[in-house]
Amino acid sequence: MPAIAVIGAQWGDEGKGKITDMLAAESDVVARYGGGDNAGHTVVVGNDTFKLHLVPSGILYPRVVCVLGGGMVVNPRRLLQEMDELAARGVDVSARRLLLSNRAHLILPYHIALDGAAERSRGQSALGTTKRGIGPAYADKAARSGIRAGEMLDPAAFAERVRAAVLTKNELLTRVYGQEPLSPEEIAAEYREYALRLRSHLADTSAFLVEALREGKQLLCEGAQGTLLDLDHGTYPYVTSSYPTVGGALIGLGLGPQHLTRILGVTKAYQTRVGAGPFPTELHDDTGDHLVEVGHEYGTTTGRRRRTGWLDAVALRYAVQVNGLSELALTKLDVLTGLNPLRIAVAYMCDGETWDHFPADVRALARCQPVYEELPGWEEDISGARTFEELPQEARDYVTRIEELAGVPATLISVGPEREQTIHRP
Ligand code: IMP
Repeated sequence: MPAIAVIGAQWGDEGKGKITDMLAAESDVVARYGGGDNAGHTVVVGNDTFKLHLVPSGILYPRVVCVLGGGMVVNPRRLLQEMDELAARGVDVSARRLLLSNRAHLILPYHIALDGAAERSRGQSALGTTKRGIGPAYADKAARSGIRAGEMLDPAAFAERVRAAVLTKNELLTRVYGQEPLSPEEIAAEYREYALRLRSHLADTSAFLVEALREGKQLLCEGAQGTLLDLDHGTYPYVTSSYPTVGGALIGLGLGPQHLTRILGVTKAYQTRVGAGPFPTELHDDTGDHLVEVGHEYGTTTGRRRRTGWLDAVALRYAVQVNGLSELALTKLDVLTGLNPLRIAVAYMCDGETWDHFPADVRALARCQPVYEELPGWEEDISGARTFEELPQEARDYVTRIEELAGVPATLISVGPEREQTIHRP
């Protein structure tokens, strides 16, 4: 049976939470495949706003089973906090509904301490990480010194692994970064408690997912972050340490590619970025402020003001390329209301040449000047539109131009934060 992947087509924060939430209504299983609590997904249901960092957005539908896949790095303290908050609001987060891969890597307190210390030591060239310990946890995974969630089930062996790890990390923390050492005993004791609570949630989630697909269940693979933050395909080194692209979904969930029938790229109708790194269409003017204020462009996880700019179709085409996107979900179209004219970057000027490709080298990207195409804007409130035909002609033309530039259709168009404020196109 089919699996749909929802992939961020920009630098994260594309509105994947809302799109995933809507598609979750027709799914049996929703699975996060990468990243950790650096992600922040906002889902608005009536008067309730849910901000989720680790738990997949599908948790709000009682019949959906949610999975935290093996490609994730999980801070169990934050996961349990989020589960408790959901439970307090009447959401069932029992092991019947929420599974954690025993292959997922754990974020430990030394990862968080090292993330902060490394950022501080980078000074002016800081990456602007979320300081959740993501990079150091993935670095340990790649160095084969990480600790996986399943290991919590053997407390004695786990305590020994923590002791050995903390010994090395304390050297780094104290000698290189001048920080206080951490206590391995305290960490082991803290994680022993987490293990007791998470024990029943731990599972071989790849086996679970493949079995669910064999039974004809509908799977939604929920992306976090975005293509341009991908460790390999993003604006390295200004990236996260995981693989938000479609390949990451397959590895992170332990699935073969034959299951994927739709690869949906989510993009805002404009561009945003949090953290450092080049951003060719960035605006430092009233239009940029309009996008921040009208679009509420403040990070869900860190509260940081997001950088904003015009839609970058060069980057969008690149996202279509590296993910094989079959379609787009275009979000926040309503935020552009009142801006006139609108602009879309259709190419870059770099070193005296016109480029229509997205460069691998961030230094080249930093030299790129956008080549803009102008389109007329609209004044009408579009937040009540439920069909494409109800949009003003200018808004329809804007969407159509994005489809032409990306080479794939926009099958979902979001005109407001509510579930209902969405245009579905066949
Ligand atoms: P890290 O993932 O905390 O290591 O941060 C690395 C970069 O990715 C920083 O620029 C972050 O702002 C960015 N980032 C990480 N997670 C997200 C997200 O969910 N949305 C947007 N940006 C993110």
